[in-house]
Amino acid sequence: MIPFLALIFLLISKIFCASVFPEQVHISLGEDAAAMVVTWVTFEKNYKVGTSDGWSKQFQFKTFPAGNNFKFRVCVFGDLGYHFGNSIPDLMKAAKNDLFDMIIHVGDIAYDLHKTDDDGVNIGDKYMRELEPIFSRFPYMVIAGNHENDKLNFSHFHNRFRMPGEVNGHHNNQYYSYNVGSAHFFGVSTEDYGYREEYGNAPILAQYNWLTNDLQETNKNRVIRPWIIGYQHRPFYCSNTECPIDAEPLIRIGDNNGIPGLEPAFIQNKIDLQFCGHRHSYERFYPIANLVAYGNDSSGNAYHNAAAPTYITVGTAGCHSSKTPFGSPHPASAFRSDDWGYTIMTIYNHTHINLYQWSVDQQKNIDNIWITKDFGH
Ligand SMILES: [Fe+2]
Repeated sequence: MIPFLALIFLLISKIFCASVFPEQVHISLGEDAAAMVVTWVTFEKNYKVGTSDGWSKQFQFKTFPAGNNFKFRVCVFGDLGYHFGNSIPDLMKAAKNDLFDMIIHVGDIAYDLHKTDDDGVNIGDKYMRELEPIFSRFPYMVIAGNHENDKLNFSHFHNRFRMPGEVNGHHNNQYYSYNVGSAHFFGVSTEDYGYREEYGNAPILAQYNWLTNDLQETNKNRVIRPWIIGYQHRPFYCSNTECPIDAEPLIRIGDNNGIPGLEPAFIQNKIDLQFCGHRHSYERFYPIANLVAYGNDSSGNAYHNAAAPTYITVGTAGCHSSKTPFGSPHPASAFRSDDWGYTIMTIYNHTHINLYQWSVDQQKNIDNIWITKDFGH
C-alpha cells in the first residue's frame, strides 16, 4: 500500500514558548486541500502519527537552528537496496551515534519501491519499515533514479515522498530546492532525460527553466549563503571500464534539437558541489567544466576557491549489483574506490566544508577532503 501524507507538522517552539507539553494545538489548510497543517507549541520535538484506529510509536526529531551560519552534517548516498543493502547496519549505527543531521539519497531507492518481493510483500514498504528508525528522525531528502520509473510516471516515488514545494504536486518531487544554514541545496532529475521517449521533452524543459531561475535567484544571496550544492542520479562524469569520462552527454550538454543540458547552468551559476549515484562506486573528481579538469597538476589545492564544480559519485550504499570494474583512472578523477559506504559532509561555516567517505568494507574513512573558499568568492 502506498502511504499518503495527510498531515504536515510544523513546530514553532523556539519562536514562542518554553512549554515542555504540547499546547495551543491548532490546524490550518495546507497548499493542497488534501493536506492539513498541524501547529503546536513545545520544546519537545516528539511526534506520533495516526488516527483513532491506531497510533504509531513516539518518534523524535530536531529542527535546525535559525539563521545561516551553523555547522551541520549531511549523510549522502545513492543506490541502496532493501536486499543487499550493505550500508544499512552502519547507517543505523551512525544514526544512533548522531553522526549526521540529515540524509540525501541520490536515487535508486529500495530496488524497487514498486516491486513485490518473492513473499508477496511490496519491497518499498519493507525498505521504509526497516529504515524507519533513521528516516523518522532525520530529514530524508530523495531524488529519482532510473529504478524509480515504474512506468506510471514515477507514481511510487511521487506518492511516498513529499519534497519541498511538492504539496501542490506540480513537479512530482523531480526537482526542488531548499536552504539549510549557509547552503542552498537543489535536486534535479536525470530521469527526465533517461526516459524522454516515454514521457516526452516537456519535463526536461520545465526542469531547465526552473533550475536556471532557482540558481540565478540563489546567486543574488551568495554573500549570506555562499554554498550551492546539488544532487542528481546519473553522473555526467565517471571513469571506469563501463563508462568513459563523458558518461551522459545528453544530460550534460543537451543536443542541437532544443534539449538543454544541465552543465552550462551549473557552470554559469558557479555551483560548488554536485553529488551523483547510479555508478556503484565512489569517485571524487577534480573541479571540472566542459571536460576540462582544474587543479589536477599538483599546482595547489584544487578545492580552494575552486575554478569549477566538484562532482562526487557515491552510488555505494549497496544493492544487488557486483562492484564496479576499474581500469586506469581518467586524469580528472582524484580518488576512486569500489568499497560499499556513504559520504558524510560537514558544512562548518561560510568558508569550510569537509567530506569523508566511510568504507563499510574496511570500517574506516577512505577519503577525506576540505572544500574551502574565501569570503565573497
Ligand atoms: Fe541507477
